Amino acid sequence: IADSDRDLLLSRIRDVPDWPEPGVVFKDITPLLRDPAAFDTAVELLGAVGGEDVDVVVGIEARGFILGAPVAHRLGAGFVPIRKQGKLPWETTAASYALEYGEATIEVHVDAFQRGERVLIVDDVLATGGTVRATVDLVRGAGADVVGVGILMELGFLGGRAKLPDVNLQSLLLV
Ligand code: PRP
Repeated sequence: IADSDRDLLLSRIRDVPDWPEPGVVFKDITPLLRDPAAFDTAVELLGAVGGEDVDVVVGIEARGFILGAPVAHRLGAGFVPIRKQGKLPWETTAASYALEYGEATIEVHVDAFQRGERVLIVDDVLATGGTVRATVDLVRGAGADVVGVGILMELGFLGGRAKLPDVNLQSLLLV
């Protein structure tokens, strides 16, 4: 990523202290989405992560939808939503992962992928890595190939990347 692109994207991400709970600094991407140049830059760079030949872009609820759908459209690929438990109407496959306290479950439709399809996963933030790990496992479990994971912002101090040694994981911003 060029320095000018990094500076543009970083300048459009707002730190919100003590959100959603005391002690957490939330990375708010709404200013980036609101700015056409920054939004376009993010979509273009995320779309490059999977290389030439992407069949399907997967977006992870909720901000991964906002970024992933335009990436899919730009690449001429289809779009598949990965959602939190109980949100998808058709038959689903689920994957669970550990949170600091408790567990989370995400789901995808059983007919979302065909074997051998080339899949690019997109999300806004990599924190502990549990969400992306579970997403990669769901895609591979369906027999499709994960050609890349494109993340807008990696929170490096949380070490999520260590859960994904087997994945082409590229973050536009490391904070
Ligand atoms: C955030 C973020 C990622 C995930 C990263 O989503 O958008 O999807 O957490 O966390 P992890 O790397 O520790 O798994 P959130 O759960 O806040 O859902 P939302 O986008 O629906 O608010």
